[in-house]
Amino acid sequence: MEFDQVLALRKSIRSYTDEPVSKEDLAALVKAALASSVGKHNDAGYTLCVVTDRALLSAIDKEAEEKLGKPHMFFEAPALIFICETKEAFDYLKEFDAGIIAEHIHLKASDLGLGSVVLYGFIRHLGHDADYVKALGLPEGTYPLLAVAVGHSRAAKMERKGDREFEVIYR
Ligand SMILES: Cc1cc2nc3c(=O)[nH]c(=O)nc-3n(C[C@H](O)[C@H](O)[C@H](O)COP(=O)(O)O)c2cc1C
Repeated sequence: MEFDQVLALRKSIRSYTDEPVSKEDLAALVKAALASSVGKHNDAGYTLCVVTDRALLSAIDKEAEEKLGKPHMFFEAPALIFICETKEAFDYLKEFDAGIIAEHIHLKASDLGLGSVVLYGFIRHLGHDADYVKALGLPEGTYPLLAVAVGHSRAAKMERKGDREFEVIYR
């Protein structure tokens, strides 16, 4: 797909069908994440965790609803890709890096005709001690920073209505 078309399709999708994301598409999303830039060349600072196991997804959904009082915080998407910090991550860079990695996944999803949304809310509010973090079975000292929910959605094929309205200053 033309890059400008990928940009035109990029938007947050909050409704998904039950159709699973294929192994090929998941591999393409991971490949896009691995094409990311990170500060200080710190590849050891990050681990990606791709979750498609339905029991695990439903446990995360349930924990978020029970503890935060909001249902379906990742919109019942069939795949969640967690961008995790390891013990090697630099505090002053990790949130920038995670955002950039997430954006690569988000844009690649648009390119593949998939829907996606970047997620921080439930990760932030559930924190490091959450049951789902233990259930992910991450190495010691590794915790989710950000996630991207991915799935099929008819809306993914429609162009975004508007752009951001940032002030832009040229000098
Ligand atoms: C760092 C970051 C965290 C976000 N966290 C959430 C979230 O927890 N839940 C959610 O529904 N959307 C989340 N979003 C999506 C934004 O809310 C969304 O980008 C915004 O509503 C603009 O919509 P658009 O992406 O369709 O242009 C997040 C986006 C970013 C960049």
